[in-house]
Amino acid sequence: MAELDGSTSLEDQGLPLTALAVAAGRAVEASRPDPLVADRFASALVVAARSHLDLPTVWPAQPSEAPPLEQPLLLASIYIGMRTRFIDDFLQSASTAAQTVVLGAGLDTRAFRLPWPAGSKVIEIDSANVLEFKAHVLGRLSAEPGCELISLPADLSLPWREPLLAAGFDPSQPTTWVVEGLLPYLDAAAQHAVLGEIAALSAPGSRAVIEQAVPIPRTDDMEAKLREFSEQTGLPMSELLARSDPPDPAALLEAAGWRCSGHTVEDLCSLYGRVLSLDTSTEAGAGVPDDEQPGPQDQGQDQSRGGFVTAWLP
Ligand SMILES: C[S@@+](CC[C@H](N)C(=O)[O-])C[C@H]1O[C@@H](n2cnc3c(N)ncnc32)[C@H](O)[C@@H]1O
Repeated sequence: MAELDGSTSLEDQGLPLTALAVAAGRAVEASRPDPLVADRFASALVVAARSHLDLPTVWPAQPSEAPPLEQPLLLASIYIGMRTRFIDDFLQSASTAAQTVVLGAGLDTRAFRLPWPAGSKVIEIDSANVLEFKAHVLGRLSAEPGCELISLPADLSLPWREPLLAAGFDPSQPTTWVVEGLLPYLDAAAQHAVLGEIAALSAPGSRAVIEQAVPIPRTDDMEAKLREFSEQTGLPMSELLARSDPPDPAALLEAAGWRCSGHTVEDLCSLYGRVLSLDTSTEAGAGVPDDEQPGPQDQGQDQSRGGFVTAWLP
């Protein structure tokens, strides 16, 4: 990968701004007085990328008075904070499988942040540029993973079983799968294929946490809103329309013998005492009525608020 020497930004290299925007969300969350996540690497990753977009990395004293373009990103950081913590908790909740596979790992730093049991192996899959950028920045910070970390560059919209096996994945052992913020970037057929591979490659005792993709109504109004937001921010929201009609991960895994539970965004708001609002006078823990959920143009970076499925294969 090209050295980031002041002339080359992450985006110049065709890397996804969405991965960076999620890291910014974690940086903002980590800066709050009551953080759900302590990610000391997130801000460094955002700074190193020199994005053309002025991504916030700090929770302001008066979030509702932040500039209009920053507000959706701050709002999204509330969601990103809860999502990150929910998956952190999932990974630490039960005896974690010795191997974890993170699909679309982006700038997630769990391999470095979480206390992994001895002998744990984490395989992160994403595009080569994303993984190399992350390794480069974390290397500069002298960060050490708390597990055996394997970075596997692969395109998850194409077959990826062989590279995974070649990277040291053992299908005879239970696996913990993490699918966070990925599915909205795959079309429905590729989402099917990814979930099918998870089922096919899992030994009994495997677990999964999957963030569902939101079905996006294909209306002219929705298309116009997403296009406008994309033009303003450079985030490729309008591409998400191609991902309408996603499969239901729970239905797919249950058909393969898994036991699944659903977790809505409202569940996470209650669990973590957060409200998806920049109005700090709103009482925490009250949850958010459906008609007050931010619209697609409010979601900033990551059109993936379809709730979560956690699953276990007996
Ligand atoms: C919104 S980011 C989320 C990253 C990470 N899971 C997190 O929450 O920080 C989506 C990630 O999926 C990756 N991705 C999207 N499509 C992919 C594909 N076809 N193959 C591999 N990775 C992909 C992107 O490169 C990006 O890093």
